[in-house]
Amino acid sequence: MSGFVDLHAHWVPAVDDGVKTDAEALEMLRGLAALGYARCVATPHIRTAMFENRRPGLEDAHAAFVGRVQGEALPELGLGAEHFFDDVFWGLFQRGEHLPYPGGKAALVELPPERLPLRLEHVFFEMRVRGVRPILAHPERYRDFYDRSDALEPLLDAGAVPQLDLMSLVGRYGRHPQRAAERLLDEGFYYLACSDAHRPADVELVGRGIERLRELVGREEADAMLGDHPRRVLAGDPDFE
Ligand SMILES: [Fe+2]
Repeated sequence: MSGFVDLHAHWVPAVDDGVKTDAEALEMLRGLAALGYARCVATPHIRTAMFENRRPGLEDAHAAFVGRVQGEALPELGLGAEHFFDDVFWGLFQRGEHLPYPGGKAALVELPPERLPLRLEHVFFEMRVRGVRPILAHPERYRDFYDRSDALEPLLDAGAVPQLDLMSLVGRYGRHPQRAAERLLDEGFYYLACSDAHRPADVELVGRGIERLRELVGREEADAMLGDHPRRVLAGDPDFE
């Protein structure tokens, strides 16, 4: 199997701050396909007080969208969620009401950007013990990792797998995340890279991010982070420790 696999994007219409319409979703997915993506897994936000989504509603919205766009030439589509890390998330996880990636072997988690939660590594460890690998969304966008990486070590020890946001590499979120992403790449922390695209216009930045990633780590490693590694995450066997 070849082609890139995107494990972080917001193209289920009108469920979060991503695309609003089918037309926008189609434009985004066609753009990602043109960049080389063969499979796209949507990760709508589940975030208390902002995006009060739950698994059944997101599954319905995704299935309805897939039904409406049947017959279109698109990447293979799938559904997960971007879970904001808080007590609500932990309750959902313990009740089996979280929304993991297809296959159920990994789930995407984002952190509050200003300060790392307490006991984070314990929760990640618990997730891993229960057979769900925590995929850590865009560590470069969290203040604690702007200038140093040491706080990342215990999270990796607990089983978290860092996921780069490609748009960080081209300044989408400002200088601090861009520099942090370059440093974390240089230090070898990332296992996979994803789009986190929210609108069709993001696709061009994602494409530039892919080019920048290839400049920084070489084409072979970049393509592994875009294809083979996300496939391994879905299969439940990331060769990452
Ligand atoms: Fe996201």
